[in-house]
Amino acid sequence: MATIPSHALRHLTLTRPWLRKISCTTSPAFSSQDPLLTYPDNSNNNDTDHTKKTTNSKSQAFFPKKNQVLELECESLAFKGKGVCKVADSGFVLLCDNALPGERFIGRVSRKKGSYAEVTKLKTLSPHRDLVDAPCGYASYCGGCKTQNLSYEAQLRAKEQQVRELVIHVGKFSDKNPDFECIMKPIVPCDVQFHYRNKMEFSFGTQKWLPKEVLHEKPDGIDNYALGLHAPGYFDKILNVDKCLLQSEPANKILATVQDNWKDPELGLSPYNVHSHTGFLKHLVLRTGRDMKTDLPELMVNFVTSSYKPEMLKPLVEKISAIPEVVGVKYANFVNVDLLYFVYMVSIMNNVNTSVGNTSVGEEEYTLYGKSTITESLGGLTFQISANSFFQTNTHQAEVLYKLIEDCAGPRGDASEIVLDLFCGTGTIGLTLAKKAKHVYGYEVVAQAVADAHRNAKLNGISNTTFLQGDLNKIDENFGKHFPKPDIVISDPNRPGMHMKLIKFLLRLKAPKIVYVSCNPATCARDIDYLCHGVMEQNIKGCYKLKSIQPVDMFPHTPHIECVCLLELC
Ligand SMILES: C[S@@+](CC[C@H](N)C(=O)[O-])C[C@H]1O[C@@H](n2cnc3c(N)ncnc32)[C@H](O)[C@@H]1O
Repeated sequence: MATIPSHALRHLTLTRPWLRKISCTTSPAFSSQDPLLTYPDNSNNNDTDHTKKTTNSKSQAFFPKKNQVLELECESLAFKGKGVCKVADSGFVLLCDNALPGERFIGRVSRKKGSYAEVTKLKTLSPHRDLVDAPCGYASYCGGCKTQNLSYEAQLRAKEQQVRELVIHVGKFSDKNPDFECIMKPIVPCDVQFHYRNKMEFSFGTQKWLPKEVLHEKPDGIDNYALGLHAPGYFDKILNVDKCLLQSEPANKILATVQDNWKDPELGLSPYNVHSHTGFLKHLVLRTGRDMKTDLPELMVNFVTSSYKPEMLKPLVEKISAIPEVVGVKYANFVNVDLLYFVYMVSIMNNVNTSVGNTSVGEEEYTLYGKSTITESLGGLTFQISANSFFQTNTHQAEVLYKLIEDCAGPRGDASEIVLDLFCGTGTIGLTLAKKAKHVYGYEVVAQAVADAHRNAKLNGISNTTFLQGDLNKIDENFGKHFPKPDIVISDPNRPGMHMKLIKFLLRLKAPKIVYVSCNPATCARDIDYLCHGVMEQNIKGCYKLKSIQPVDMFPHTPHIECVCLLELC
């Protein structure tokens, strides 16, 4: 899989402007009466004196020391949802996990990283603005929903602001330009803020993560087993969860059933131990699709195990297929059509993964119950999803995203245009555009995804598509010889963005339109800068004009931001 291209790392590290430029207010002086002054890690240094000195003397530059304790105020959110705070006078930036805009807190400097430092929050002094009650009981421990206790409007504002800062400071598009406000579109909210994920991956583990207050309990054996989500910062500790508000209710019923039964000593099931590499159960992956005829959810349960022992999983399979609301019926056994309206189809799979790594993709796959795929619809097309297929995780918002992509691409609709779908995955974007195009050419590195794209094209009766496997980080001068010059390029890379080789190719190709879809606004801003302004150090000229950049909230309560950008040839 792709790694971050070195030019990308270098550029982002050198500029890091979102750290330098974000304006924050002065932090009030740290109170010497606060009991945290005697915090153990801080007891042997006089850093708090230094803090006081700095906040009192306006002219002095301030560089915090490791373990120094400070009183801070979070001003905004940055990449990965970290809270941005700034030291008075010097503007030195500190990033803090789980700090939200407006929150005043005591933090300890945990890491210094050149032009900024990371802080661990020790105690909240006053809560952030726009505080709401997080509906999920796990929200403050689980790393998934970092902003569930921030009102949704405030989450949207923070995300929009973050994209704006990146476009200005990394993308080098001036907000003084009269066109800027037209280019920078307001964020598209997600109408469905809970139960929107169609896939969740839970892990089994031998070490339950416990909050500080109950750490003394020290459970062992079965009491220490857990099924849930990795606790932030731990590869071996699992936060036990009975339900997740981001996945569908039927999927939660399955999770609760597995939780109620898997530790039963009579079943003899053991979780995989990531230290000793022993044990059987590794992951539980739950996917929710949709039956196209009834519009009811379809469910897939995938047990990822370290070996193939179907008899061990049989009791769990029986329990799941007996859940009244999730009646599993073998597809071939359907005789009563009316029954379709009362059941969710269930597929129970077993992926066997013998490696010591943490992946949920198996080397072998077995069907334990029902069919081996579930279906989902997107952009008016039907997709068959197998246990390891990539599919947009928020189907509802993916419809919105794909509509925006199509609006940007603006196909003429007379079947005369060539579309190049870079990083095409299972072909979903290209396939939704195919009906209006002459031909779609898709490129993707994962062979299984390319095979799924072919299957999806066939399933939907689409014959004007060609999907090819290829690593877009390793293209050479022959790339581009196998397809005609495209009228529209869609590029949807994963987080590292586009490799410089691909940027150079696009600048030579000069397609009239590029629709850049990105799940990482930082690399997106960098790449649109290259495409529009060129790469000075390499004497490469840009030849595109940024027409619009549209942030889209695909994942409420999490730091993720999607953007759709339209670039037109100058
Ligand atoms: C964000 S996903 C987009 C998938 C697809 N466009 C969609 O909407 O479902 C990025 C895709 O790029 C693929 N990818 C990552 N690195 C790649 C590379 N170096 N060359 C080609 N494809 C790559 C991934 O496997 C993944 O399918």
